[in-house]
Amino acid sequence: MTQEELKALVGRAALEHVVPGAVIGVGTGSTVNHFIDALATIKAQIAGAVSSSDRSTERLRAHGIRVLDAGEIERIPVYVDGADEIDPRGHMIKGGGAALTREKIVADLAERFVCIADESKRVDVLGRFPLPVEVIPMALPQVARRFAAMYGGQPQVRDGVRTDNGHPILDVHGLRIADPLAMETEVNQWPGVVTVGIFARHKASLCLLGTRSGVQTLRY
Ligand code: A5P
Repeated sequence: MTQEELKALVGRAALEHVVPGAVIGVGTGSTVNHFIDALATIKAQIAGAVSSSDRSTERLRAHGIRVLDAGEIERIPVYVDGADEIDPRGHMIKGGGAALTREKIVADLAERFVCIADESKRVDVLGRFPLPVEVIPMALPQVARRFAAMYGGQPQVRDGVRTDNGHPILDVHGLRIADPLAMETEVNQWPGVVTVGIFARHKASLCLLGTRSGVQTLRY
């Protein structure tokens, strides 16, 4: 199976975790696109969706799925999203598609985070994938210097990219994130950081991992 087929497989498998009659939280990315297409087949059974990006909103609406504003919702049972990396405890790096801030906001509304990923995303230690950080523009050099000084990474501004919130992304290469919760907590304190793409406080409850022998369910 190709990587795209594995993504489609887990996108469909996530339908089992959609709670009938409830609003579903929807992430962003190529794996989630498969989930959205699958969700369209059961759209009559859900109350609507809350979305983590303009791209996902557009795709949901194109399928005739009602999209609610995150501000209208207090709690949702399930949030479904992909990941750039996931470790053995369900901690993730996210933000490869620059949607990390809204993803964390919607994940925070949810009781459970269902991660959908192909097996290439599974790692022992986070950090091989450059860590995305959404930053207020005037703080970019300051945040980059602090990263290099504290963690030894090589930060690079992502070329030509602005998030849905209008901010640039700093990608930090060469990290080894042994304690994701500690790094998330620390970096979130730095002035100018909007969101760091470590999802440790909002880690996965379970991961549907697409492998050559089928979908594996990993629980954390
Ligand atoms: C979007 O900003 C990301 O957090 C995505 O969830 C992540 O990059 C996974 O994307 P793919 O499903 O396209 O690999």
